[in-house]
Amino acid sequence: MDENYYSLKKVASMFGGPELKEEITGLEESGDIASQEKYRSGALYRKGFKGSDLSKIGSKVGYFKKFDRPVSLCVFTTKGGVLKSTLALNLARVAALHGLKTCVVGLDIQGDVTTALGFDDGIEDSEDLNYILEKLNRTKGLSDIFNNTVRLNDAIVPTDNENLFLIPETPELVALNDSLSNINRREFWLKEKVVDPLKEYFDLVIMDCSPNWNKLTTNALVACDALVSPLECKINNFRNFKVFSKFLLEFKNEMKIDFESIFVPTRYSLNRKLSLDILEWYRSSVPGCISGAVRESVSGEEATALNKSLMEHCPGKAPAIELMGVLSEIHRRVETLIDNETAGPHGEWQQKPQASAQHQENNSWR
Ligand SMILES: Nc1ncnc2c1ncn2[C@@H]1O[C@H](COP(=O)(O)OP(=O)(O)OP(=O)(O)O)[C@@H](O)[C@H]1O
Ligand SMILES: [Mg+2]
Repeated sequence: MDENYYSLKKVASMFGGPELKEEITGLEESGDIASQEKYRSGALYRKGFKGSDLSKIGSKVGYFKKFDRPVSLCVFTTKGGVLKSTLALNLARVAALHGLKTCVVGLDIQGDVTTALGFDDGIEDSEDLNYILEKLNRTKGLSDIFNNTVRLNDAIVPTDNENLFLIPETPELVALNDSLSNINRREFWLKEKVVDPLKEYFDLVIMDCSPNWNKLTTNALVACDALVSPLECKINNFRNFKVFSKFLLEFKNEMKIDFESIFVPTRYSLNRKLSLDILEWYRSSVPGCISGAVRESVSGEEATALNKSLMEHCPGKAPAIELMGVLSEIHRRVETLIDNETAGPHGEWQQKPQASAQHQENNSWR
């Protein structure tokens, strides 16, 4: 976790809004959270909460509470550049900031989420080829798990947030995609060998897919409780969506599986009528579309480039407030999904699925 400091105002904005200031101050006074510390900012001394204390605060006052059972989300659509990895990054960082033990599984050879979670930092800054080669050699991923050359535990790497972990993307994902075509139950490998075992330890597993409908993607769809699918507010995606939704339906029927689809409008422009019209059409015509949306913004680009969520980068600013709305809608949809599982086929109330004993006991990764 970084040793940055965050003012009371920023922390309140990050987890909901300025109205949380009083509640946070109350928790500070009662000793339920660590007190603000004095830190030096240029020539001045200021007061703020340490970055490493944020998740405690988030878990108490925030909007992204831990679910009643571990959850897996797949971020996918068959269109490139529509903010899949950005949504995966923001979901993961925000969940971790709320105290959820979160693991991101990178499934895109481009490696964008791996980069965005800071895994390549040392590599990009280094001029030492030997160091780079050694680090690349040491990096294990899904392909190594598939080939049994590494255990799942050993492929998981930490990030700057103590609650956030990653299975990094490696170039061997290409080979893994081919290998998956040649095994029995080829769509179920990721679920059975990776995602379900991860759910023993993590509260949330997020899979970031490439825009291709390949074996890694179909494995991710089989492994997810819910699909988070961006709908870009541009005319090309508008057309792409029809084909995509037909594919999805056919896939679910063929595999005899069902998962919730949460559609998230992205990259809409406030000053473009066509973009706003498409946004309205999505909202009114696409079943499962949320009412919030992610706007096209420079701060959005900056945040991803800085490996941060928008809420960390510019809390309280319009793009961050809007994204907070999107994430809390996704959260509500997942909660409803879990609640509906607990009602039996005739509406009778059944016991909620319990997190396994291992999950309850071992709630911290290693
Ligand atoms: N709110 C935003 N507005 C505009 N651009 C953004 C915003 N947020 C992020 N970006 C930038 O848009 C680009 C594409 O985003 P991203 O990588 O998330 O898309 P993607 O759907 O994952 O793409 P791919 O299909 O290649 O995996 C990135 O460079 C990202 O930094
Ligand atoms: Mg991506």
